[in-house]
Amino acid sequence: MRAVALDKFGGPEAMKLQDLPVPKIEANEVLIRVEAAGVGAWDPYEREGRFVEIMGTKPSFPYVLGTDGAGTIAAVGKEVKDFKEGDRVYAGELANPKGGFYAQYVALKADNVSLIPGDLTIEQAAVLPTDGLTALTGLEKVLGLKSGEKLMVYGASGGIGHLALQLAKLIGAKVFAIASGEDGVQLVEKLGADRAVDGKGDDVLIAAKEFAPKGLDAALVTAGGEPTDEALSAIRKGGRIAYPHGVMPEPTVPEGVAIEAYDGEFSPALVKRLNTLIDSGPFEVHVDRTFPLDEASKAHQALDQHHLGKIALRIE
Ligand SMILES: NC(=O)c1ccc[n+]([C@@H]2O[C@H](COP(=O)([O-])OP(=O)(O)OC[C@H]3O[C@@H](n4cnc5c(N)ncnc54)[C@H](OP(=O)(O)O)[C@@H]3O)[C@@H](O)[C@H]2O)c1
Repeated sequence: MRAVALDKFGGPEAMKLQDLPVPKIEANEVLIRVEAAGVGAWDPYEREGRFVEIMGTKPSFPYVLGTDGAGTIAAVGKEVKDFKEGDRVYAGELANPKGGFYAQYVALKADNVSLIPGDLTIEQAAVLPTDGLTALTGLEKVLGLKSGEKLMVYGASGGIGHLALQLAKLIGAKVFAIASGEDGVQLVEKLGADRAVDGKGDDVLIAAKEFAPKGLDAALVTAGGEPTDEALSAIRKGGRIAYPHGVMPEPTVPEGVAIEAYDGEFSPALVKRLNTLIDSGPFEVHVDRTFPLDEASKAHQALDQHHLGKIALRIE
């Protein structure tokens, strides 16, 4: 199969198109013929070898990147009851030892796989798993967001942010969305933000005061720095803030406000909840740019440039 793999960790140039054997499946696994892969904001860290350092695992090379993807079931293990050949699925697994989604085939546990919800395209489904589950973990498991509450989403036009904003609306919250740039503001308004501001141009605190004179109840933060900390002063005393590990610099907490860093949860129950919310729609996954597999290094470079939503790889 064709795959973009590393022979050693390094920069974008370390990713090479290679011909590798199709991975073999165990009884509880499925083989997916991948049609599209998500390019995660964290993929460059994995490419540089920082994940294996943190996780204390021993990598084997050639190392295929790609946590997220979507395609068609090509084979199922003996114990797998929920899928059959030809099913259209999406799936995610961080640092899968059998290889990631920058490849024509992926073998992984059936528990990490799901039928595609709503009317998402393959590319939209491919970029959804990690950021969708991280958004939902933050909103429901960490913040315990309730219908009617006023939520700030910081970085609302980004990967996690644009999904979190829509999930929060489906939960019944009122969303104050802090997006990046005029195009970011336009996107989050289209996706249903109750109030949208440009975090790189507008006066966020004046807008927040108008939106929630007594302060916002909670915030989900996906980008750190001084402007973030300033915006978080709009959270009321007794309010809650959540941010996924990886957001740097880590947000600082206003007095009397709870703050928690977390990791997105990959569990069949949470995937089911994500699918149910998406099916209750409207819900859109914004894919800003799609690159062919052999241009994976360009896709990584694009992560550093201003973009909205997600970046995908198309795998023929
Ligand atoms: N621990 C976990 O389980 C987990 C899972 C997934 C992701 N993560 C981490 O979470 C972080 C966010 O992930 P992501 O996929 O959402 O990344 P992302 O797509 O890069 O989103 C971050 C967004 O914040 C925006 N932003 C930056 N400064 C801003 C400002 N002043 N005002 C408004 N928006 C601003 C960025 O816009 P510009 O690009 O235009 O600056 C970008 O759209 C990353 O560090 C990632 O590694 C952790």
